[in-house]
Amino acid sequence: MPEVTHPPGASEPETLLKLIAKRGAMELDQEREGAWIEVIRKMDEVYSDLLRYEVDLEHKNAELEEAQAFVTNVIESVSDILIVCDAKGLVQQVNSAFQHTLGCSVTDIVSRNIADVIDIKDRAKLIPLLKPRSASDVVDGELRFSAESGSSDLFAINASPRHDHRGRFIGVVLTGRPIGELRRAYEELHKAHHELQRAQRQLVEQEKMASLGRLVAGVAHELNNPISFVYGNVHTLMRYRTAIAAYLDAVHGEAKEDDLAAKRRSLRIDEILEDFGPLIEGTLEGAVRISEIVKNLRRLSFSKLGEVERVNIERLINTAVLWAVRTKQVRIDLQLEIEPELWVCGNEGQLHQVIVNLVENAIDAMRGTEAPRLVVSAVRRGNEILFRISDNGPGIDKDHISHIFEPFFTTKRVGEGTGLGLWISYGIVREHGGELVAGYGPEGGATFSFALPAA
Ligand SMILES: Nc1ncnc2c1ncn2[C@@H]1O[C@H](COP(=O)(O)OP(=O)(O)OP(=O)(O)O)[C@@H](O)[C@H]1O
Ligand SMILES: [Mg+2]
Repeated sequence: MPEVTHPPGASEPETLLKLIAKRGAMELDQEREGAWIEVIRKMDEVYSDLLRYEVDLEHKNAELEEAQAFVTNVIESVSDILIVCDAKGLVQQVNSAFQHTLGCSVTDIVSRNIADVIDIKDRAKLIPLLKPRSASDVVDGELRFSAESGSSDLFAINASPRHDHRGRFIGVVLTGRPIGELRRAYEELHKAHHELQRAQRQLVEQEKMASLGRLVAGVAHELNNPISFVYGNVHTLMRYRTAIAAYLDAVHGEAKEDDLAAKRRSLRIDEILEDFGPLIEGTLEGAVRISEIVKNLRRLSFSKLGEVERVNIERLINTAVLWAVRTKQVRIDLQLEIEPELWVCGNEGQLHQVIVNLVENAIDAMRGTEAPRLVVSAVRRGNEILFRISDNGPGIDKDHISHIFEPFFTTKRVGEGTGLGLWISYGIVREHGGELVAGYGPEGGATFSFALPAA
């Protein structure tokens, strides 16, 4: 076994152990120091990270505050009212326009049920606005709020639903604007419109009365002629009666043959007897004409609005044109080209009015025309009857042609025309299944035409 040598001055095993321990302690110290340095370095890192995060956070916070201030500012500047409610209808936020409407502050409103600030009469209208629905489903309504000073103005409300990130319904946003003023203006407009319609109806009535007046004038004129010759004939007959009575007295008296013959000559008894036939025939003809006119008049006055009958075109046009021409008391070259046996279904009185209006217009237009000519025709084309009224007047001004069927459009002087004739005629023709159109004649002048289904 080899000998163990020990360092000098110490008992050998003890010294060795101490040496080992000393070295161990030194190594441990070094390790600890390294670990500490590592910890301190890490702490430094964390600390500087923290500082950076804090700066970032402050930055972000400032940005957030700015964004929020912007949104608040925008909401506050909106003149429309804005109310945000949760799914139960509790108010979460309102803008100042709404506070202003109610006359109270945000703290008075937030957390209250929206129904509490709605006028009691309008609360039922709130239900559809608050109900859960899909994002695109905006519901409109009209509400009044119960303000400090009583019921508010009427508001038009749009209710948009709100949803969270999972798509669950979490409430609604109500926006609204006052429409009381608008509503009032609308109501006034509505009233004015009604008034206007009433005035228009009245004017149409007046126009009808005026055309009735013209019709009566035409009829009076028409009647005047036969009445005057019936009257004249009866007068002559009365004179004849006196002469005949005188002659008969002579016949039954003591008169001689020669005296009788002289009396017969002086009283013109033979001429009287000859004249009797034509006189009675003429009177009868006059009476027949009077009764015809009266019959026409009765037919027209009996055809009430909406009453439909078979109308003979020849008779219709003859009476209407004749009467219209007579009323105007002008000399015109009148050409009637009417196929016989044409019939339509309709209201004779109204169709009469159409023809009279068109003929009167033509006559008025031809006032300055040298040789005025009016052509009125009615012909059959397939299942329709084509009516045409043409004149050789100046024609319709091309700036006016798109307006002549408008009510109250007239180029006539005040008191000469109301401008309703063509408008009324257009309506009547349309009610009878046709369309009244205006155009220009081949040799100038105006042409009005329409087609009605044949009966
Ligand atoms: N045959 C025609 N030739 C030229 N212009 C015409 C003719 N018919 C109508 N017009 C124009 O159309 C306008 C409107 O005619 P409408 O019959 O509606 O009214 P009006 O004749 O002026 O008045 P009223 O209410 O008395 O009939 C006339 O003022 C005239 O300018
Ligand atoms: Mg007219």
